[in-house]
Amino acid sequence: MSTYVHGLKLQPDMTIGPDGNLWFAGCNLVDLAAEFGTPLYVINENTIRRNCSRYLQAATRYPENFSIAYASKAFLCQAMGRIIAQAGLELDVVSLGELHTALSSNFPADRIIFHGVNRSRHELRTAISHGVGRIVVDNYFELEKLAAMATEMNVEVNLLIRLASGVQADTHEYVQTSVTDSKFGFNITDLPQVFAICSSEPLLRVRGFHSHTGSQILSLQPFTENLRVLLGLLATWQGKVPELDELNIGGGLGTYYTADDQELSIEAYMAGIIAAAQDIARELGVALPRLIVEPGRSIINEAGLTLYRVGGTKTIAGTRKYVFVDGSMADNIRPALYGSNYEAALANRALEAATETVAVAGRCCESGDMLVWESKLPAAAPDDLLVVGRTGAYNYSMASNYNRLPRPAVVLVTDGQAELIVRGESWEDMTRLDVLPDHLR
Ligand code: LLP
Repeated sequence: MSTYVHGLKLQPDMTIGPDGNLWFAGCNLVDLAAEFGTPLYVINENTIRRNCSRYLQAATRYPENFSIAYASKAFLCQAMGRIIAQAGLELDVVSLGELHTALSSNFPADRIIFHGVNRSRHELRTAISHGVGRIVVDNYFELEKLAAMATEMNVEVNLLIRLASGVQADTHEYVQTSVTDSKFGFNITDLPQVFAICSSEPLLRVRGFHSHTGSQILSLQPFTENLRVLLGLLATWQGKVPELDELNIGGGLGTYYTADDQELSIEAYMAGIIAAAQDIARELGVALPRLIVEPGRSIINEAGLTLYRVGGTKTIAGTRKYVFVDGSMADNIRPALYGSNYEAALANRALEAATETVAVAGRCCESGDMLVWESKLPAAAPDDLLVVGRTGAYNYSMASNYNRLPRPAVVLVTDGQAELIVRGESWEDMTRLDVLPDHLR
C-alpha cells in the first residue's frame, strides 16, 4: 500500500478501509465526523503511549537517572494527564491552568516541573503548597518572590535555574529560546549573583540548571551544544553549590509535518544526547548528572489529526483553487503564526487519485487564515471530509475563539474505540462569560 493518501503521508495506525475511507486507530474517520461533528480533533492513544515508551526505553541506556517530562503545553486535558501519569513520565507545566488540569487528573505533584517567566506570588505559593517536584526559576524578580514564599511558608523549595545558554537552533525565530537576547532565563554571567542570593536562603535548594534551546529542531547539534554549555557550568559550580547535579535540557525535538522535514527519530535524538553527555562529561572531568528532557511535540504531534467538512470551492483562473472548510486559524493558528505547513487528504475518498493541487482555506475574516497552502487532493466537493494530518501538538492547546468560533471537541481513539476527552464548545458557549451591565440592558 502507498504510504500516501493524496497529499498526506499516512500517520501511525492510519489505514484505508475496504469502504474507501481513512481509518485511524481502528476507527472510521467518516463515522467519527458523523458522531462528533466537525471540526474535530482526533488523538490516537496508542501513539502517545508508544512514543512515551520509546523515550523511556532509550533513557535506560544512560548510566545515571534520566527522566522524561512531557511538556503539557503541547496538548493537555485530564485524559492526557492520566495517560502521561500511567506511562510513568514527569510533567512540565507553565501555568496554574496546566497545574490544575494535571492535579485534577491525579498527576503526582512531585513529578511536576513548574515553569514560567512571570509568576505571581499566588501562583508560586499554590505550586509550592501542592509540593511540585521542581520550580524552574527564570529571573531575579521570580527568585526574590520564591525566597520570600519559602520563608513565609517555611518549606524547602527545589529549584532549577533557567539559563539562556546562548545556543541558537535552526528553527523559527519565535521558538528559539536559548539565544542571549531572549526573555527566558538568566544569562550565564548572572550565575555568581544568583548563587550568592540562594546561598543566603537556606530553604532554596538549587538542584541544577535548565535550558530549553527551542522547538521543532531536527538536528542534534543544538542539543549537544546546549549540553556542553550546561556541563561546563556544572564543572564550574559543583563543589561550590551543594546538591547541584541535574541538567534539564528542555524539549524541542522536531517532527515530520511535510516532506521538507528530515526526521530525527526519538531513538537517534536520545542516543545522541546520551553519547554527547558521556563524552563531554569525560572530557570536562565532571560526574554524569541526572538528566531530564521535556518533549512535547515529538510525543503528541503524530498522534493527532483534525477533521473538517468541505463547504465548497473557488477557482481563480490561472492562480489557485481554494477549498473552504468549517475550521480555521482559531483551531490551528500555526500556519498563520509560523508559516507552518501541513499535509491533507479527503478521508471519504481515500481510494481515489489526487488530481489537483489546492489551497485549504479557513472561515475566518483574514487572508492569512489558511490551513494548508498546497495540498494534492481529488476534486473536492461539498460535504467531503478533509483530514489535516499531524495536528496533535500546539493545535488544540493554542485554539482560540477568534470570530467567536467555538473550540472543537477532542476525541481519543484506541483500538477501534472512540471516546470524547474534551467537549466541543457550542454557539451558546460563545456568550457564557459575557456580562451585560445594567445600563446596557
Ligand atoms: N520545555 C520548555 C521549557 C518549553 O518552553 C517547551 C516549548 C518545551 C519544553 C517543549 O518543546 P517541544 O518538545 O514541544 O518542542 N507553539 C509553538 C511551540 C512553542 C514551544 C514552546 N516551548 C509551535 O506551535 O510550534
